[in-house]
Amino acid sequence: MGSVGIIGTGAYLPERVLTNADLEKMVDTSDEWIVSRTGIRERRIASEDQASSDLAVEAGRKALKAAGITADQLDVIIVSTVTPDMPFPATACLVQDRLGAGQAATFDLSAACTGFIYGVSTASQFIENGVYRYALVVGVDCLSKITDFTDRNTCVLFGDGAGAAVLGPVEEGSGFLSFELGGDGSGGDLLKQPAGGSRMPATVETVENRLHSIAMNGREVFKFAVRVLGSSAEEALKKAGLSKEDVDYLVPHQANVRIIDTAVKRLGLSQDKVVINLDRYGNMSSASVPVALDEAVRAGRIRKGDIVILVGFGGGMTWGATVLQW
Ligand code: ACO
Repeated sequence: MGSVGIIGTGAYLPERVLTNADLEKMVDTSDEWIVSRTGIRERRIASEDQASSDLAVEAGRKALKAAGITADQLDVIIVSTVTPDMPFPATACLVQDRLGAGQAATFDLSAACTGFIYGVSTASQFIENGVYRYALVVGVDCLSKITDFTDRNTCVLFGDGAGAAVLGPVEEGSGFLSFELGGDGSGGDLLKQPAGGSRMPATVETVENRLHSIAMNGREVFKFAVRVLGSSAEEALKKAGLSKEDVDYLVPHQANVRIIDTAVKRLGLSQDKVVINLDRYGNMSSASVPVALDEAVRAGRIRKGDIVILVGFGGGMTWGATVLQW
């Protein structure tokens, strides 16, 4: 491996900010509880007329510009999301049309918060195998659209956003060095949107019972996350033939700062090597990792030659990590 990499990144965050103080007025919670239990201070919320494809197109445009290629050069577009504009057509098709990306192959991928890592893993295989030259991978979610804002257990955690990466050929030896993906479907009930699919189609009752909103067993998800975040990053490093001393930056899924801290301790990394932005955005599911990556790149923190680990976990349950030389 090592001749396919990320050649441009981009992000888009909706303008509206929802602070912990705002949530104090909506449910029985407090800024102190939210910050001490999660690290989150505010999150972004899409407007009524904004859907996932709108956010994805903005992030995609920025990533294309950073990569120095045009939309019509893309061979494949993968959109990772659990909040597509609608069940079909795929959000990737809507993004392709709006970007003017010719007739690039388009599909959505569902791996919840691990989706971006599943997405780059998938896209890089096409390029590595010589099938395609350029791919756009977008991680986007509008979790506010499926959040029950009367449920304090979940509504304080989530936000909306999109992050994107253009993948293409890079210098031999740099780019993706390893992938480590996993899943455990036996944990599917821990985090889900119960209704709206073929198991429980939408009815008046499913709407009244709020079954179209995120349902979560927070404590169990927490235990799972702490376990897999550290172990998948370790496994990806091992596969790349590297050790923790080689790591310049860790870009973890941004669900809870306590989950990240525990994983960072296990990996033996210093805090200055960890990219964290959940205080400003909360958990944006598929968008968390690519938005954090884009911010670190644009701020000049991640630079050419750096060894970077992207690592995530999410509903499914799923997990994944990749090691890159930037
Ligand atoms: N404000 C005040 N109190 C609250 C709130 C709130 N917003 N939410 C829950 N509480 C209460 C609970 O009701 C509970 O009260 P009880 O003891 O009387 O029942 C108490 O606080 C403590 O609850 P715990 O579950 O023990 O709190 P914990 O320290 O575990 O933190 C949290 C809860 C933040 C949800 C944590 O478990 C967590 O982060 N879990 C992981 C969640 C996650 O990452 N989900 C996303 C996965 S990614 C994806 O695929 C979308």
